[in-house]
Amino acid sequence: MSLSFVIAVAVLAGLALFLFHEIRRFPGPKKWGHTPKWPKRIRIALATIPLILGLLVFWGFFIEPNLLIVRHETIQISNWPTPLNDLKIAVLADIHAGGAFIDQDKLRLIVKRTNELNPDVIVILGDFISGGRGGTKMEPEVFAPILKDFKAPEGVYAVLGNHDWWYGGNRVRGALEANGIRVLEDEVLPVNVRGATFWFAGLADLWTRPQHIAATIDSIPVDQTIIALTHNPDIFPQLPHRVPLLLAAHTHGGQVSLPFIGPVIEPSNYGQRYVRGHVVEEGHHLFVTSGIGTSIIPVRFRVTPEIVLLTVKRQ
Ligand SMILES: [Fe+2]
Repeated sequence: MSLSFVIAVAVLAGLALFLFHEIRRFPGPKKWGHTPKWPKRIRIALATIPLILGLLVFWGFFIEPNLLIVRHETIQISNWPTPLNDLKIAVLADIHAGGAFIDQDKLRLIVKRTNELNPDVIVILGDFISGGRGGTKMEPEVFAPILKDFKAPEGVYAVLGNHDWWYGGNRVRGALEANGIRVLEDEVLPVNVRGATFWFAGLADLWTRPQHIAATIDSIPVDQTIIALTHNPDIFPQLPHRVPLLLAAHTHGGQVSLPFIGPVIEPSNYGQRYVRGHVVEEGHHLFVTSGIGTSIIPVRFRVTPEIVLLTVKRQ
């Protein structure tokens, strides 16, 4: 139990006691021998508002970042090959191992929940390394052997993110590949599912790596079905027309999404356009997962850590 958690609970308890005290101040002030400065309903409001705000802050810093939900998404693509209908992809990202709430037990839980979904393939879209406050740094040689337990009949694939390259992309890649996770850095690979074939194209991170999008896609034989993987969704407008689907992450869905306002942090040149979820532009599909960990500030509010089970169907 961290010191900040104890302080937060103490503050909330103090506010709750104050509110309880104000509600009980009935029938009136004479009992206390003096006249309160403000009417009772004002005093109760003054106690209730900070308590509600305090509970919301507590939720955002201590409860929601520690949750883990499974989100089921279906994307329908025109001309998607019939033999690949109902392709199931588990999409994970931004694990930020060692960051707030992402200890070794949480990694094992992520692996267990993912395997229970029985996906055809698993993709992990970068930012394995922690880069924010809270938690303690976890080295690739520690988290990669835990991720080795991911199970999918057609394999586990990854791309690297900005935090991985700021730490040392080659070391992260080495640890992942030593544990059965194939990393695609401007590389392509055919994947066979139930007798049909599609290609994964792993595209390098926009912020930290040179970009070779067209050349990478051109290395795939024509008329092949392609799913592109990358960390940062801002490359979506540059994607060659023959790629029907791009999977990305990085934004954390804004990490904090306020009612009526939406995401407050947008690490994107396109504002909220690619911040989260399914986007269709000119017949191309983009899916952005809001990921699992936190970055910079260990808070999530209305953007719950998620494992996505994506089903790709023919439209
Ligand atoms: Fe990132």
